[in-house]
Amino acid sequence: MKPTLVISSGAGISAESGISTFRDAGGLWENYPVMDVASATGFRKAPGLVHRFYNERRKALLDARPNAAHRALVDLEKDFDVRVITQNVDDLHERAGSSDVLHLHGELMKIRSVSNPGYVESLDIDHLETTPATRGKNGDLMRPHIVFFEEPVPNIEAAVELVRKADIFVVVGTSLVVYPAAGLLQFVRPGVPVYYIDPHPAAVPQSVHIIAKKASEGLAELTRILRAAGQRS
Ligand code: OAD
Repeated sequence: MKPTLVISSGAGISAESGISTFRDAGGLWENYPVMDVASATGFRKAPGLVHRFYNERRKALLDARPNAAHRALVDLEKDFDVRVITQNVDDLHERAGSSDVLHLHGELMKIRSVSNPGYVESLDIDHLETTPATRGKNGDLMRPHIVFFEEPVPNIEAAVELVRKADIFVVVGTSLVVYPAAGLLQFVRPGVPVYYIDPHPAAVPQSVHIIAKKASEGLAELTRILRAAGQRS
């Protein structure tokens, strides 16, 4: 059986694809007040603004391609049972070919019913713009399929279960500020190696192996480390 390699990715893994991160200089939250465009209160107050914000994000995503970091995770599937947990709402892990991706904060290319959170539709590539009047095929009013601030994170329990199963845990490109995602580290079993790839890593316990590089270079280095360890064992 292949060892289970669990990845927790954040905006930094998509930075080399040209997608803005949130909190770096020039990041999205510098240009848009986060609580206006990405919170439940903001959505109640100004739903049109929130729809426009995510329409723009979809446009940017259409122009983006998976980068070497996304592809490195697909390549690791040859040797590992790779499970990706991502805070990202883009679909670059899937487009690169990762076979198991769990989205914690929703998915940009999907919309869901305002009244029934379980009713989700994929957007058709020719109709990516939504407004507060957008209705689903079932007639429901729809909203972006995004977990707003102040809302629960439905997939966190499944994520915790995955982290508990990890034989190796890798965090890539996240500032580790947003909970509960940032708390996943605490569910790693004792003795399991943990790597953190980020050019500007946040403070983490000393036992975490930091690779202070961009995602593409960091994952190439990690692949070398894991293959060398595999050959020794
Ligand atoms: P942040 O913008 O907070 O952090 C991005 C991280 O990526 C930082 O630690 C950067 O150092 C790192 N980074 C930048 N370029 C990189 C590169 N080329 N390779 C690797 N790392 C790089 O993004 P997240 O931590 O993902 O939620 O943010 C978490 C959540 O906050 C998001 O999912 C979003 C946001 O508000 C919602 O909107 C619900």
